[in-house]
Amino acid sequence: MFADRTVRFRDPAHAASELPPFPAYLSPPRESGPAPATFPVRVRFADKDGLRHAWIKTDPGTTLYGTGEIAGPLARNGRVTVCWNTDQFDYTDRSRSLYQSHPFVLGVRRDGSAFGVICETTYWCRIDLRRGILFSARGPSPAVTVIDRASPQELVRALSDLTGRMPMPPRWALGYHQCRWSYEPAARVREIAEGFRSRRIPCDAIWLDIDYMHGFRCFTFDHEKFHDPAGLNSDLKSQGFHTVYMIDPGIKVDHGYAVYDAGRAGSDGVSHFVQDARGHEHHGSVWPGPCAFPDYTSAAVRRWWAGLWPEFLRAGADGIWNDMNEPAIFDGPGKSMPVTCRHHADPDLGGPGDHRRYHNIYGMQMVRATREGMAAARPSRRLFILTRSNFLGGQRYAATWTGDNRSNWAHLRWSIPMALNLSLSGQPMVGPDIGGFVGDATPELFARFMGIGSLLPFARGHSIKGSRDHEPWSFGPECEHACRLALRRRYRLMPYLYTVCCNAALTGEPIVRPVFWADTANPGLRTIDHAFLLGPDVIVVASVDPARAEPGPSPIPGWREFECADPDDDGVGGIGRARAHEQLPRLFLRPGAVIPLAPAAEHTGAMDLSRLTLVAAIEGDRAAIGSLRTDDGESLDHIHGAYFNAELSVSRGPQGPIGHVVALHEEYRARVGIAAVAAVDADGSVTIATA
Ligand code: GLC
Repeated sequence: MFADRTVRFRDPAHAASELPPFPAYLSPPRESGPAPATFPVRVRFADKDGLRHAWIKTDPGTTLYGTGEIAGPLARNGRVTVCWNTDQFDYTDRSRSLYQSHPFVLGVRRDGSAFGVICETTYWCRIDLRRGILFSARGPSPAVTVIDRASPQELVRALSDLTGRMPMPPRWALGYHQCRWSYEPAARVREIAEGFRSRRIPCDAIWLDIDYMHGFRCFTFDHEKFHDPAGLNSDLKSQGFHTVYMIDPGIKVDHGYAVYDAGRAGSDGVSHFVQDARGHEHHGSVWPGPCAFPDYTSAAVRRWWAGLWPEFLRAGADGIWNDMNEPAIFDGPGKSMPVTCRHHADPDLGGPGDHRRYHNIYGMQMVRATREGMAAARPSRRLFILTRSNFLGGQRYAATWTGDNRSNWAHLRWSIPMALNLSLSGQPMVGPDIGGFVGDATPELFARFMGIGSLLPFARGHSIKGSRDHEPWSFGPECEHACRLALRRRYRLMPYLYTVCCNAALTGEPIVRPVFWADTANPGLRTIDHAFLLGPDVIVVASVDPARAEPGPSPIPGWREFECADPDDDGVGGIGRARAHEQLPRLFLRPGAVIPLAPAAEHTGAMDLSRLTLVAAIEGDRAAIGSLRTDDGESLDHIHGAYFNAELSVSRGPQGPIGHVVALHEEYRARVGIAAVAAVDADGSVTIATA
């Protein structure tokens, strides 16, 4: 046992000293004594067919979740996932391995109590949920840690005590992001920015995919297409946009290219690149042709990589996107590196070893190094890093998206359960490529994707090279209108979303949660994957059916429907019941809750908390209650207490609902105020009182 009701099991046939370190954890587990005899979960170990097996019997009525990034339904019972990070372009629900590995399963028992199982291996590992929970791993016999808790909420918080929590992102990262492979040259980037502002479609960030580089050399700019990156970034900044630039791990083999030369020279006579089995620099093809790959498992290499950032960031990039870090190698076995390649790993990661052991944490160690570099360059700022590959615990370093999905209805459907299972595996900052990456969306599909994606934690539109234009206005006026309304919803909900996001960073409870979160003992809610909870108080119900736009009712009776994206409103009040557009999901508010809304803004920098609309579902005579947390949105001062935490309450008054912000910090009083209070009643009426 190493924490309250957390027990670490190991195969008694193997010595405890053989247990490999497990980088998912914040710190090595400290065992405090034997497991209590009453502990409800047992693990049976066996070695067979060259694999180390660990089996956990589950009781009837147990629903299984987690296993990280996987397409298909929310409940994972009967499914098999393989932890082996893979560049799974155009994946489907038959793909067993995607870009990240989370050897973790969350079980919710019939009575609503929960347990979590972590298989402590970085090696290839199969998670078979057809008969209980069976982990089968290559490599040394792993320990299996079981957390037992009264509820899934407590369980995910306990998981985050072990594997860490997402650092609070900058506020702009919660806005809408527009990407494509690639916006080029600089004039096209400016055109996209203008496209959003002239159409009054909210957007916070524009992304630069690989084509901004000089011949795909990381940390360089193509000065013909982007002759003044600093000027571009600062012009965009003046319009309220942030920029995110891609950096891949593959470093072009090119003598004379400073990054390659420095990596090859290494330090203390040791190259910074991964070596092949014969001790030569390993080469594999990615975008620039033959590349060498930094060995991020070594502290010296991470220090070198971190040192590359200050100069690159001087051009003003706000965020960084690390891609292809499984690592993806076009001409390698299984589209990656031979498992016989060698790593100089730090002792606390397991010491020198081959790629079998380090493959699954390659991406995680890359974003760890990127974060160290960005933090050194910008010590007082919050960072935003997006990664495609990662490992359990990797939320400490980077946000993620669900890789190369496709513009079709199946991927629209999977986008909800994928975001939920990643959330339940410890990664709260997640979303799909809105519109679908591979192929061309139709107006209906794009609008539906935007409707759902705009309510997931990380909201970014993205599309592959060669596809038709995939901006919100590229599919005609009706789709543009639906997208504008979808994004107005997100921006109006921003004070609430931000509060929920702060809570995720503080407690580990995810931003989006499965519907059963609201009633864990109701088995009827366990497999719902067309709806989700955004924070504790809002249920989002979508239709993912091409033939039927109208979403169903709230899966939990009594929650009250509301709409906050009135196309004609002045940004205050504007609360209705009828959906603003037929392609958008329905929104329902928890009885007893209050959520804070801001006036619609075109970017988070323009968000005005002094004109809040409180939306409340008052029950009887009792005041409805909510909370608001805010801070400067970009510095680290919130860690030292510079934030505002308020309780919100709305009660019935003779002339309509009355709202209060119970301010806890004097200095924020002037900045936070109520412009309108809307009560959404059980009978379907909405009463609005303006201040
Ligand atoms: C990969 C990424 C995709 C990106 C492309 C080009 O396929 O998953 O998002 O656009 O590479 O960099």
